[in-house]
Amino acid sequence: METKETYGKINLILEDCMNILCKLPDNAFDLAIVDPPYGINSPNMQMGTNRHRSKGGYPGESVAVKLKKGRLNSGGGKLKGRALQTMHITWDYEVPSKEYFTELFRVSRNQIIWGGNYFDLPPSRGIICWDKKQPWTNFSQFELAWTSFDKPARMVRISTTGGANREKKIHPTQKPVSLYEWLLTNYAQAGWQILDTHGGSMSIALAAYNLGFDLTVIERDETYFRNARQRLLYHQSQQRMAL
Ligand SMILES: C[S@@+](CC[C@H](N)C(=O)[O-])C[C@H]1O[C@@H](n2cnc3c(N)ncnc32)[C@H](O)[C@@H]1O
Repeated sequence: METKETYGKINLILEDCMNILCKLPDNAFDLAIVDPPYGINSPNMQMGTNRHRSKGGYPGESVAVKLKKGRLNSGGGKLKGRALQTMHITWDYEVPSKEYFTELFRVSRNQIIWGGNYFDLPPSRGIICWDKKQPWTNFSQFELAWTSFDKPARMVRISTTGGANREKKIHPTQKPVSLYEWLLTNYAQAGWQILDTHGGSMSIALAAYNLGFDLTVIERDETYFRNARQRLLYHQSQQRMAL
């Protein structure tokens, strides 16, 4: 049984997104901005690479994967600490199904899909490159989003930590609120209905609230959902106090 909660123009749904998408009419949303699991920690993804086996592991193996396999027991410093945050993620093994994308394209008129380079999507002119201003070279320096917009490709440079408004991290793959503000400002029009099927920390909800967009955001993990709801409610109360 799904849980649906509404906070102003923001709807939060605790459920597997496939159970929600199949009930929605065609073009129910003007824009879907989604960030599904990329499957980068999945065993299949590891096998699909051209990496050569060597003593101690594959040369390009991530710190998180080394930790999982017990190949990094000491050292690692900040990298090890950051990797530990992500090593218990199991949802990242599940790349969204073909049916997910069929449903997503059916229920939304426009789409921005993070990790688009990992999925089987049509060619797009309007890709977005997010330069994470990441100081650690062992981690990705940027992420790509596929978009349905016939616009020039764009680059956005925003620190993963949210820059000057350093954001508290409540989710292992949390994106900054300012990144979602940039997306909404540059790709959405006033009055558009926005959908996010994989909410995580729901940074998108804070951005939509700040900019006055109608948003429906779905997350199936109860702990992430509760933490994100608390984050949104705290943000809304802080904004109201500032008025
Ligand atoms: C990459 S994270 C999203 C991060 C988010 N953009 C942020 O800024 O915090 C993907 C999220 O999707 C959730 N998830 C995975 N499969 C799902 C599904 N079928 N339906 C709903 N949520 C799902 C996971 O629990 C995880 O929190």
